[in-house]
Amino acid sequence: MPGLLLGDVFPDFEAETTVGRIKLHEYLGNSWGILFSHPRDYTPVCTTELGRAARLRSEFTKRNVKIIGLSIDSVEDHQGWTKDILAYNCEESSCVSLPFPIIADSKRDLAVALGMLDPDEKDKNGMPLTARCVFVISPDKKLKLSILYPATTGRNFDEILRVVDSLQLTADRQVTTPADWQPGDCVMVPPALSDKEAASMFPAGIYTKELPSGKKYLRYTPQPNHNANH
Ligand code: BEZ
Repeated sequence: MPGLLLGDVFPDFEAETTVGRIKLHEYLGNSWGILFSHPRDYTPVCTTELGRAARLRSEFTKRNVKIIGLSIDSVEDHQGWTKDILAYNCEESSCVSLPFPIIADSKRDLAVALGMLDPDEKDKNGMPLTARCVFVISPDKKLKLSILYPATTGRNFDEILRVVDSLQLTADRQVTTPADWQPGDCVMVPPALSDKEAASMFPAGIYTKELPSGKKYLRYTPQPNHNANH
């Protein structure tokens, strides 16, 4: 499905994975979901990424996020590779298996359907590999975020957690989060809210930055309900 847009219902595909055949929507249930794709099994950057995702298991669980990986090799390859990932990334007792499934997209059906191929990276037969996609899916199965990294650049998982925090906050509250926002920082009042609406919505107060234009659009308020989060 080239051209999947933010807000679209994410395709409810069925796929073979390291934990058997799954239907995406059923697998996600009422959780948030992250689908993240990988160029190929037994490759260095991917090995560091899957290991980091495994080590962040409790952070994803805390946020009610189920993750699912994808690579264009077979379930058998994924299972062999998993042993390397765990050996390289985890203390002996801390993970005995990956805490999420990996889709075996051997025929590249999903990679093509979801626009995940990286034309610059090819296998030995000249076939394009998968890029490093991050799709964040809300509990109502809508696409909330899509980031596409080339095969040559590993993802920043602190940023993935940060963006999930922002998405979950802004799904519930009429606020926006500024550049480099971290949970607990002040949030911003969206332009669509008048000062009067904002004042009644944010009793903790609104701080407006003075600007050369005289326009009062940089409005901050403490993050609502901060202590209720995590
Ligand atoms: C890697 O994971 O290191 C990788 C995979 C495919 C192309 C380039 C890098």
